[in-house]
Amino acid sequence: MSVRIGEFPVLTDIDLTIRKGEKIVLIGPSGSGKTSLLRVCAGLLSDRNGHFGLFGSTPATPAQWSKARRRMAMIFQNFNLYSMRTALDNITFAARHLRLGSESELNERGRELLGLVGCDGLADKYPFEMSGGQQQRVAIARALIGDPELLLLDEPTASLDPETIAGILDLLTQVAEGRFSGRPMTVLCATHEMGFARRIADRVFFMEKGFVVAAGTSQQMFGGGVSDRFLEFVGAMAHQRP
Ligand SMILES: Nc1ncnc2c1ncn2[C@@H]1O[C@H](COP(=O)(O)OP(=O)(O)O)[C@@H](O)[C@H]1O
Ligand SMILES: [Mg+2]
Repeated sequence: MSVRIGEFPVLTDIDLTIRKGEKIVLIGPSGSGKTSLLRVCAGLLSDRNGHFGLFGSTPATPAQWSKARRRMAMIFQNFNLYSMRTALDNITFAARHLRLGSESELNERGRELLGLVGCDGLADKYPFEMSGGQQQRVAIARALIGDPELLLLDEPTASLDPETIAGILDLLTQVAEGRFSGRPMTVLCATHEMGFARRIADRVFFMEKGFVVAAGTSQQMFGGGVSDRFLEFVGAMAHQRP
């Protein structure tokens, strides 16, 4: 599969099949196409060439895409909460729109999720009243309310300070393992956090300039022997983030 934005080839010859329950980590320098790949999966970039499938079929119409989107959730670097909505409302808003439950059911589930992500007592707070870490926890609760099978994570800790990062990565590890949903999730995650990548990845894809330049299991990739360029990149990241 290849993807263009205008004339620019953001992704070229991407050959990636994710099995159910598998955790895939995308690693690569800024501008390598990680966000674009996640956006393709969310149906946000449609100028594609080649085969693309999701949950066993190729969504084409808006109706097919909205059906597919109900089975996935995305978590962003900048949390993307609605600034004029409370934490609880942020969690339940889209689910209400999609009629995933009654008002009281969704509020109850929303409060339960707030507790699970470690944000008890924040239901009525607005994003500006919360720390970055708390906002990302709320965004994680929002992602979980539709009980998604596929989780798309776009550098979920890149906007957080080092002390907050570890807590969010722990939470995401639990989420990925299905701790809050009863079944392990399929995960596609872009991150610069190498420890986390090593911990959760079944397979690692190293991207540069819109190409997947190296791929393998976490052990193969981090163990060496697949790509010196990848290890060089990992080394540079470790140097930046002690
Ligand atoms: N909306 C857009 N218009 C034009 N170019 C874009 C757009 N979005 C991304 N790109 C380009 O596509 C390339 C890949 O970007 P992106 O997927 O955001 O990479 P990453 O997430 O790895 O930093 C970059 O060169 C970027 O400038
Ligand atoms: Mg990006």
